[in-house]
Amino acid sequence: MTVATKRVFNFSAGPGIMPVPVLERAQAEMLDWNGTGMSVMEMSHRGKAFMQIAEQTEAAVRRLMGVPDNYKVLFLQGGASLQFTMLAMNFLRGKTGDYVVTGTWGQKAVEAGKIEGNANVVWSGKSSGFNQAPDLARLEYSSEAAFLHVTLNETIQGVDYLADPDRQQDVFCDMSSCIASRPFDVSKYAFIYAGAQKNLGPSGVCLVLVRDDLLERIPAGLPPMLDYRLQVENGWMYNTPPCFGVYMLGLVCEHWILYGGLGAVGKMNEAKAKVVYEAIDRSGGFYKGHAEEGCRSRMNIPFTLPSEELTEKFIAEAKALDMIELKGHRSVGGCRASLYNAFPIEGCQALAHFMREFAARNG
Ligand SMILES: Cc1ncc(COP(=O)(O)O)c(C=O)c1O
Repeated sequence: MTVATKRVFNFSAGPGIMPVPVLERAQAEMLDWNGTGMSVMEMSHRGKAFMQIAEQTEAAVRRLMGVPDNYKVLFLQGGASLQFTMLAMNFLRGKTGDYVVTGTWGQKAVEAGKIEGNANVVWSGKSSGFNQAPDLARLEYSSEAAFLHVTLNETIQGVDYLADPDRQQDVFCDMSSCIASRPFDVSKYAFIYAGAQKNLGPSGVCLVLVRDDLLERIPAGLPPMLDYRLQVENGWMYNTPPCFGVYMLGLVCEHWILYGGLGAVGKMNEAKAKVVYEAIDRSGGFYKGHAEEGCRSRMNIPFTLPSEELTEKFIAEAKALDMIELKGHRSVGGCRASLYNAFPIEGCQALAHFMREFAARNG
């Protein structure tokens, strides 16, 4: 059976677009992984073949992201959302944790944290509609905080710090929507987590990087699945891991290593985002970006049009041109173009061209 292949420009905020060579490789290996006569979905997670995949995946993550030896790599389930709770259970119980809230996901992290301890909001951008990232050096923190939690890129509002926080505190970071989109220094963080379904692979896997001295702080008596120390001791296989997702995550990391690493990826993403921001900025106010200039995300670009009616028309016409998933999140409205690593620059050019043409017709 031959299946016709059509690829669209997929602006989805997540699960997002995957690199085509990765999908092709997975397709080629689908029925028989490396001469085993089985697909990755069919093999025991304790068997030799999957152990090899697990090792290769961890090695690829370490290499692509430059993960130092004193950090453990975990592939967990429950998405980044479970990490909001899990990190609080492990590190916040009976303590204070400082949270900087630049958008919806940071807010959710606080809500989950409050159930376990004193999730202290040191700064929130809520009153201005989450369109800024503060200068972390100018904030006042709790003296005894167990950690400082930041969301490096807020997916819904398109607000990004654009640099690693340079703080003395143990920084805990939700990198779900910008991980591996540019060079970053793991050692600036104590704890990093990211749902895979934007830049790393399919949904169902959450990457966690934890500095190993943190493990000593974990209280006894946590539910086993929610205890990082136990997950580390069991090589993230306390239960059956999301095998296929882990395999795909490894292929994605290997793909970007071959591309030239995060330096090359970062340059590509900067060039892509520039194309779309220029279309916004040169529209004479027809399109308005949500985030302030200095914190504009290169991964998620929310923008509005003059009216609800024009927004709907824009989305429908774009869809007819095979540019899909441009509807913005309901809390921000308007449109959002997500430009994850695998999104091609041709799609940015096509969108920018359409934006100019649409504004000329409807402005
Ligand atoms: C920055 C950020 N954090 C957390 C989440 C929640 O991730 P998950 O759906 O994997 O729980 C998302 C999902 O879009 C996100 O963008």
